[in-house]
Amino acid sequence: MARKKVTVIGAGNVGASLVQRLAEMDMCDVVMVDIPQTGDMPAGKALDIMESGPICGYDSRVTGTTTYESTKDSDVVVITAGIPRKPGMSRDDLLNTNAGIVKAVTEQAVKFSPRCVLIIVSNPLDAMCSVALKTSQFPKHRVLGMAGVLDSARMRWFLAEALDVSMESVHAMVLGGHGDTMVPMPRFSTVNGIAVTELLPKEKIEAINQRTRDGGAEIIKLLKTGSAYYAPSAAAAEMVEAILKDKKKILPCAALLEGEYGIEGVFVGVPCKLGERGIEAVIQLNLTVEERAALLKSAGAVKELVGALK
Ligand code: NAI
Ligand code: 2OP
Repeated sequence: MARKKVTVIGAGNVGASLVQRLAEMDMCDVVMVDIPQTGDMPAGKALDIMESGPICGYDSRVTGTTTYESTKDSDVVVITAGIPRKPGMSRDDLLNTNAGIVKAVTEQAVKFSPRCVLIIVSNPLDAMCSVALKTSQFPKHRVLGMAGVLDSARMRWFLAEALDVSMESVHAMVLGGHGDTMVPMPRFSTVNGIAVTELLPKEKIEAINQRTRDGGAEIIKLLKTGSAYYAPSAAAAEMVEAILKDKKKILPCAALLEGEYGIEGVFVGVPCKLGERGIEAVIQLNLTVEERAALLKSAGAVKELVGALK
């Protein structure tokens, strides 16, 4: 059987960490692409990752390049190209710079891999998914965004820490856009099936919800020179694996909604079934009045941002 192939565009912090994780998962070959101005940097990182193979025990072939020919016929293309946030910048400050970058790289990626599933990571995430969808002209199930897996992972860690339990036992759900209006869902967050609302006082849960919403900014404040990449790359790797292995995994992803949750024509984070065709289903939860209002508000914020695209 031919090995699966994944292209990662952007060989920066998130991109290169993702490539390392994919190689260590030993499930595909990986091509890492950056701009010509980076010279041999992508090739250098790729060689370094290959030279870790004998120690870590994988056979994935990793290459780095500044052109697209070798990305041909990728099964999945992950777009991490763009500029990250600096302290004091919101994700939305990145809007038009990253929209130009995402448009340019999507054109190249789909020219060489017309049947791929596109996973967008570049910020502001939900708006960048719209740019990629419009540019690629792909069906909506083959364009999705990574944010919910990351935001939920942050919430899982905060819950596990508060309860002093294994992170493995904690599941969490964060819906909505990847911004200040994201919607943590404690009612659908559990410790081995027990809703966290049964285990923690209301105030503690609200504090965890807020820390989750501020999760990206908390890391930026600590790093000072860029934004998070260890957890973001882990989140993207989980999504790639679900698609390559056709796992039908239920994960929160940014998906184009066309009526689901009463939302029309924008990408918003919702629970999705991920398999080899990309988003194979959007799961519709019965929301309370408050949860629904928060999700609609978040979708409204994404719509506003998409409207501000030049
Ligand atoms: P970085 O600055 O370390 O890497 C970005 C890379 O993209 C650089 O190597 C740059 O040369 C490359 N690039 C720029 N234009 C390009 C083009 N036209 N073609 C190919 N490569 C190009 O930034 P980092 O930390 O890797 O973040 C990347 C993006 O991901 C940012 O927009 C960031 O905000 C976003 N992000 C999104 C997350 C999410 O949850 N959706 C989480 C973390 C980061
Ligand atoms: C994050 O949430 C910056 O979106 C990025 O870490």
